[in-house]
Amino acid sequence: MRLPLTRRSRSDAASPTTAPARAEVPLVWSLDRLEQLSALDRVISPLQRVVQALPLGPARDVLHGRQLGHPLHPALVLLPMGTWLSGSLLDLLPGRERAARTLVGAGVLTAGPAALAGWVDWAEQHEQQKRTGLVHAATNIAALSLYGGSWLARSRGRYRIGRSLGWAGLCAAGVGGLLGGHLAYRQGAGPNKTEPVPHLLEPDWYDLGPLRDLPTGRPVRRLLGEVPVLLVREEDDRVHALADRCSHLSGPLSDGEIADGCVTCPWHGSVFRLSDGWNVKGPATAPQPCFETRTAADGRLQVRLPGAG
Ligand code: FES
Repeated sequence: MRLPLTRRSRSDAASPTTAPARAEVPLVWSLDRLEQLSALDRVISPLQRVVQALPLGPARDVLHGRQLGHPLHPALVLLPMGTWLSGSLLDLLPGRERAARTLVGAGVLTAGPAALAGWVDWAEQHEQQKRTGLVHAATNIAALSLYGGSWLARSRGRYRIGRSLGWAGLCAAGVGGLLGGHLAYRQGAGPNKTEPVPHLLEPDWYDLGPLRDLPTGRPVRRLLGEVPVLLVREEDDRVHALADRCSHLSGPLSDGEIADGCVTCPWHGSVFRLSDGWNVKGPATAPQPCFETRTAADGRLQVRLPGAG
């Protein structure tokens, strides 16, 4: 049976919010509610088009973290958060005004690249993730504004105001961090969606039926237990087999386009090499698990995933 893996079905999926969650963990319940704020969509759509139209070229993949193997945004966030927190700690000590001002300014400068990486990731997410992500961005913009004001006040010798704005900025950045954690771990924006695949399979060869039943040059989806697999048969009867759910957000690669030895995900355009699953273009930051294939003496196709089990 074909699983309901279309983009529409995911965006219409029910929220994990439940009545017990409201009473027992009101913070989680409140955070879960953010993803249902469809009123934000009026802002999200034009903003998403702006971010997607930015002329970033190959830098877009760098910002996604493709060369790093996981999203770059959380790593870049450490720079402003670390300097701002350090600046606030120095504010507790006498005679550290200049050092604190330098740290606050460094945080303001490094917030830009961190924010850009976050926006680029955000523009390629599910509707629910984009709603939470927009609130996350708004709190961080508030933090950046407060820290910008703090630096200006400190530069003019108004240290008391500068410290107060800095503490307010740290609170806003803390809320932003909470929302970022919710987005990453509760809503699953960022993790490699194919990581479970080797753990769902045995390290054996699986039979996928007669090779002659496979069309050539077209993507075909088959199931190994509960793991969907993309099969592409070449003219010379070589068969490529990759995990079918995209490592980015689980899009169905078997609905994608095959060209130049690669498959393009139909959801956000990540490109994977058929011969080894390598992600040659983001937003996916992880490659697809790639199966070994062979044709048995009776003409039946068999596949095996190295490292499974
Ligand atoms: S699901 Fe996003 S690129 Fe495949």
